[in-house]
Amino acid sequence: MLQQYNTANDHIKVFINGQLYNRADAKVSVFDSVVQGGDAVWEGLRVYDGRIFCLDKHLERLQNSAHALAFQDVPDNDVITKAIFDTLKANDMRDGVHIRLTLTRGRKITSGMDPRLNQFGPTLIVLAEWKPPVYPPAISLITSSVRRNNPMFLDSKIHHNNLLNNILAKIEANHANADAGLMLDKDGFVAEANGVNVFCIRKQKVYTPRETSCLPGITRGLVIEICRKNQIEIQEKDLSLSEFYTADEVFTTGTMGELTRVTSIDGRTIVNKNMDSLLAKINQLFSEKTKKEGQSLPF
Ligand SMILES: Cc1ncc(COP(=O)(O)O)c(C=O)c1O
Repeated sequence: MLQQYNTANDHIKVFINGQLYNRADAKVSVFDSVVQGGDAVWEGLRVYDGRIFCLDKHLERLQNSAHALAFQDVPDNDVITKAIFDTLKANDMRDGVHIRLTLTRGRKITSGMDPRLNQFGPTLIVLAEWKPPVYPPAISLITSSVRRNNPMFLDSKIHHNNLLNNILAKIEANHANADAGLMLDKDGFVAEANGVNVFCIRKQKVYTPRETSCLPGITRGLVIEICRKNQIEIQEKDLSLSEFYTADEVFTTGTMGELTRVTSIDGRTIVNKNMDSLLAKINQLFSEKTKKEGQSLPF
């Protein structure tokens, strides 16, 4: 699965620290922390029919990530929300849009790792692009040799830009002609795929890995909430690869691609031994949410 360039994004305007720039001029300093050390936090958000889906949840995770990394002078949620609104308005965007929201530790006075060199406050970037959900209806996974971070190394609850582990997993998937790399935790249990959370369904019960080594994805959280509200059994637990290989249904979740069926893992076809698809039901309940929930745009 390879995203294609969309010419509709030729002339988008990008927000960087209070100003809107044409795509070609939207740049950060070579002294910025994100260039020097991947020292930034980010969120991916979606706009559906004039509403920013789960804006509060994304801002909460962004603020928590920035706080955990001891960023200073972080803009508050009102400032960030206005930056998003201004960017969407400047681009006349109300639907079919993906926003990459990035907050870096900011510019440094000279190259170096020490955050005390960051003396200008964080850099806030709002990059909104025309982008309907990017995943195809079904995808294949391979297990990556790269383990997902856990709190022993770098806490997966921080949504940071230090994405090399996940990029290496994606490279392995590319070489194997698979759509994404399934990453295990330090004990060999399934953590998540390189850019999405994973679920499996066995005998009409839904399972997903505990949050120890995966990003607590917002879409993942919504699926858990949907199951609980609709009397669908759901459990977070340690799950082995075999439990995924032999599941009735497997799916991934993420803002970029919503809920996506997995057809095979490491060449094992996922075979549904039930007549019904519980995934189809959960997917339906999820799209009901995207059709009505979210922060309305003020323009
Ligand atoms: C590693 C990883 N896992 C899962 C997700 C899905 O999270 P969400 O549902 O909040 O988009 C993302 C999205 O950024 C991610 O980077």
